[in-house]
Formats: sequence, C-alpha cells, structure tokens
Amino acid sequence: MWIYVNDGFVTKEAAVISVYDHGFLYGDGVYETLRSYGNRIFMRDRHVSRLFRSAEAIGLNIPISTKQWPGLLHESMRRNDVGNDQQDAYLRITVSRGVGDIGLDPALCPSPTIVIMAKPLIVPAAHFYELGVALIIAGTRRNLPSALSPKIKATNFLNNIIAKSEASAAKVFDSILLNWEGHLTECTVSNLFFVTDGSLRTPALECGLLDGITREIVIKLARELHLSVEEGRFTPDQLYAANECFITNTTMEIMPVISVDDRPIGLGKPGPLTKKLYELFIGERERFLEQAPLN
Ligand code: PDD
Repeated sequence: MWIYVNDGFVTKEAAVISVYDHGFLYGDGVYETLRSYGNRIFMRDRHVSRLFRSAEAIGLNIPISTKQWPGLLHESMRRNDVGNDQQDAYLRITVSRGVGDIGLDPALCPSPTIVIMAKPLIVPAAHFYELGVALIIAGTRRNLPSALSPKIKATNFLNNIIAKSEASAAKVFDSILLNWEGHLTECTVSNLFFVTDGSLRTPALECGLLDGITREIVIKLARELHLSVEEGRFTPDQLYAANECFITNTTMEIMPVISVDDRPIGLGKPGPLTKKLYELFIGERERFLEQAPLN
C-alpha cells in the first residue's frame, strides 16, 4: 500500500506521523471519505470543497490547491491498484494541524500534515440492503453546534465513536444521535431519512449534522419525484411512527432501516419509496459517472 504523506508517496510501513502531531495530541484536523466507481471518483469536487470548508471553519490552511487534489487522488488509486475495472476504491484524506510543541495554539504548528489513503472499497453485504438494518437511538448526544459544529468533518469524532460503541453493544447496525433538544440528527457516519404518509423527512441542518453529499442528492431526487420533502425538527416518536426509514452516505449509498429501538418501522421491511429513491440514485450516479473526469 502506498500512502501520500505531506509531499510524496511512501509505503504503509514508512507512513508514520510524529507524536507531536496535533491531530494525535488534540484531534485537531479534518477529513473526507470518497469512493470511486471503477476509475471515476464520485462527487470528487464536492468532497474536496467540503474538505476546504471544514478546514476553513477551524482556521486550517490547506497547502494543496483545489486544482492539485484530483491528480493526487487519482495517483493514489493508481499506485494502489484500485479504482479500476476490477476494484472500486475507498479514499480517505486527512489533514491535521501538523507537528508542533505541546499546547493548544495552532500557531505552534507551522505546516499541516496531509495524508491520502486509497484501498479496496468494502461495502455492506447484500443481505443488509435486501433485508434492511436495525438502529437504536444512542444515549450519547450529537455535539452542540456552538461547541463543535457537526458540519465540520473533524478528526475529533469521539461523540460518534461512543455512539457507535452503543450500537455495537446493542448488536445493531448503527445508532442515531439526538441533539441537545432531543431532536433527531444523524447516525454515526450517515444521514437519516424517514417517510411519513408519503412525505420524505430528514433532520434540518440546523439540528446539528453533517451536510452529507448523498443527503443532498436524495433530497434533489425526491423533489424531482414531486415528493414533499420536509427538512425539520423531528422527535424519536415521529420516527417510530414512520412508514419507512433509510440512511445515506458515500460508501453505502442508501441503506434501508427496518427497526429503531426494537420497534418495527412500517411493515418492518425495506419500503417502496426507499427502493424507488435507490433506483433513482443509481440512475443519477450513472449519469454523473459518464461525465466524471478520469483524473
Ligand atoms: N461519513 N454524517 C456523518 C457524521 C458522516 O460522517 C457522514 C459521512 C455522513 C454522510 O455524508 P456523505 O453522504 O457526504 O458521505 C453524514 C463518511 C462516509 C465517513 O466518515 O467515512
């Protein structure tokens, strides 16, 4: 495996970071997860833009320009023999504050640490899509936006990690985090949708969640289908009473949810609108990929 670290590609064994890196010391950094279909990276430029937005929100200056990122990402795939006809790629960009003496002041770190990893993409097994997955509502709350905005895709991911541990302990696929007011936000690495009487509902960004790129595509497709789309403040009871539910992210796309806290959602199987939106998503994805640049 070849990993890009700061200014070049090195082997996995040589890809090591200083113990003084503020990403390690303080979780001071940002990241993005991207994927390819064959040799084309899905929504590449939107992910790069979100990386820059996250970095800007924490006052981190990324020394690699938006024009240079595509070349580096495609080179990462080529070097690792992924992102081709045989193997879709999973790409992870991490940018930390960099190496500096102990202390919180970002000025201690003259230059950020940049890491790009590319490896074979592993998607959830087909039976999860066919049968749907179970979720719980975690006891852990999503970060208060005025404390650490969930819109920042930060390497400081502890509240999601604790919520993920709750899901593992409950032997379910994932957990949903509520916000400070008890409203639904998102899952640990995905956005949440549900269907009530034909309306598609998803927590509003103001509830404190990541503005997922897949979420945005699903909202656009639902509007094109003339579904009513409500981005709002929703309670767990509204979710328990929903007819359908699903979660979205870049790597798993659209995953049906059949129960929350052991209560079946709708008929307890993937719903018709979930399936319809997934079909439309695949069409949208194919159209995007036909025009997506190869490097
Ligand atoms: N996660 N919400 C959170 C907290 C996330 O971490 C993610 C993405 C999403 C969905 O965003 P998108 O549709 O742009 O992938 C929502 C990625 C997959 C990760 O952390 O690896």
